[in-house]
Amino acid sequence: MIREIVQVGDSVLREKCKPVTRFDAELFKLLDDMKDTLKDAEGAGLAAPQVGVPVRAVQVDVEEGFFEFINPVIVSQKGEQSGPEGCLSVRGKAGTVVRPDRVKIVFQDRNGDKYSLVARGFFARAVCHELDHLDGVLYTDKATDIHSVEE
Ligand code: CO
Repeated sequence: MIREIVQVGDSVLREKCKPVTRFDAELFKLLDDMKDTLKDAEGAGLAAPQVGVPVRAVQVDVEEGFFEFINPVIVSQKGEQSGPEGCLSVRGKAGTVVRPDRVKIVFQDRNGDKYSLVARGFFARAVCHELDHLDGVLYTDKATDIHSVEE
């Protein structure tokens, strides 16, 4: 089920999200709905607070595949890249953001099993952008040149 994507100005986007503690049907429903919402919006990633639920769960949909990261934490990072970013919660805007070129994260899947993963390039950028959402940070807080774009 497609959920409404919360837009900038809503306080839920500025919350410090709570860890996921129950890997149950309610979480599965949230994640399934987030996936429907992300696919419908044709975005590269979506964080739970963007559908109004302030918990530590994100999805990333990139060349490398579709990923769900529950309670993700960046444990190491390397290098630097500068590139354009937008956000489904900040419609009609884009800006340039400096991010690490490579990040290693630890996370859980929807069943609570623990994994680690290394992301590079745009994948790393998407991971960093989505993880920022879990701490109430938007890319517009970090971008140097926010400008309007056609959608
Ligand atoms: Co975003």
